[in-house]
Amino acid sequence: MAATPTSGERHRCRICAGSVRECLDLGSQPVSNTYPKNVSESAVPRFRLAIGVCTTCAMVQQTEQVPAQSMYGAEYPFRTSTSALMSDHFHTTARDIVSKLSGISDPFFVEIGCNDGTLLGRVAGAGIRHLGVDPAGDAAETAVRGGARVMVDYFGETSAKAVRARHGTADVVYSANTISHIGAIDEVFRGLDVLLSRDGAFVVEDRYLADIIEGTYFDQIYDEHIYLFSVRSVSNLASLFGFEVVDAERLGTHGGSMRYTISRRGGRAASPAVAAALALEDRRGLDDPDTYVRFGQRVENTRAELVGLLRDLRTRGASVVGYGATSKSATVLNYCGIGPDLLPFVCDSTPGKQGRLTPGSWIPIRPPEAFVPYPDYALLFAWNHAEEIMSKERAFSEGGGHWITYVPEVRVTSPSR
Ligand code: TMP
Ligand code: ZN
Repeated sequence: MAATPTSGERHRCRICAGSVRECLDLGSQPVSNTYPKNVSESAVPRFRLAIGVCTTCAMVQQTEQVPAQSMYGAEYPFRTSTSALMSDHFHTTARDIVSKLSGISDPFFVEIGCNDGTLLGRVAGAGIRHLGVDPAGDAAETAVRGGARVMVDYFGETSAKAVRARHGTADVVYSANTISHIGAIDEVFRGLDVLLSRDGAFVVEDRYLADIIEGTYFDQIYDEHIYLFSVRSVSNLASLFGFEVVDAERLGTHGGSMRYTISRRGGRAASPAVAAALALEDRRGLDDPDTYVRFGQRVENTRAELVGLLRDLRTRGASVVGYGATSKSATVLNYCGIGPDLLPFVCDSTPGKQGRLTPGSWIPIRPPEAFVPYPDYALLFAWNHAEEIMSKERAFSEGGGHWITYVPEVRVTSPSR
């Protein structure tokens, strides 16, 4: 099992070709969103999961090549709509977008990574010209069934030219939790340059680096998250392509996210929120490799405590199951070396994951009904949905069950009876 922190090895920045100093190594990890039916090492590609920070553009990024094409095929199982919290968030966001676009005559809206159309369907329902661009075909089919128009493709210069030729320029291009997944992110900005109208806005939401560090959310580091965005690094990235960040709005999703509004340089005045966020990032030392070394030490402590707790519970004969076969759980399970001996199964509401195994740690995934009869303890991997899940499963804690969480540190809840 790999140790943290790392050697401090140098790599070339994926964005600016500057020097990236590696500062955290989470060892050999599988592709996260692949759930095989049997224990099958060959079905789940592995790679070394490590991050570093660029000394030039400040982008925190994975330092190794991630097996990208295998990630977002037709069977990509993630569905936005499985969470009431995320559905609410995207419905509210859609309402805001529709209201902003209502001042423009015949507006055109594009969503990069529309998944099952949770947001796009609402924009479509408001009668706005729109297009989703997403390579995950099965999810896109659901979006289309919900009334949205979708192009099954990766977003980049070529697809943007095709969209522009057919529909004209876009007034708003929106993307949530997607562009940080695209290694060749320069392609996204080249596409944006082709597609965005002169006064248009590119609105991007993603998990926020400052919150990841503060909350020791080490499980937000997995194959799909090639970049961990901050206002500083997104500003530097945008400026390489003639764009700038003009607004930065904190969001509560995924344990802490940021919504960046990006426009063509000089197009709009920047909100004071941008300067405030940059100052906060400086105070938190987000450009300083030592920040990540300390983060790595906290991560090691979490591993020792979590594994110690699970072993102790096994010795005492207590039953423990996992809750939420999240992508995040791949990092936790593989980094901590937790397998079916410590955690016999994980419950998850996603049909495409049920009856399958967690990648690399090979723990069976069962539907939420398998949570009954209740175990003594439940290890909550879907901690970003804690409120929703704990409320849904209130009978578990009322019946004497304990929830185990591991961010920002390992905690065991008292039963609420
Ligand atoms: P996410 O953290 O990437 O959004 O994934 C959440 C996972 O948790 C997803 O596989 C669905 C699962 N889940 C449940 O099993 N029950 C629930 O009530 C919720 C909200 C999510
Ligand atoms: Zn760089």
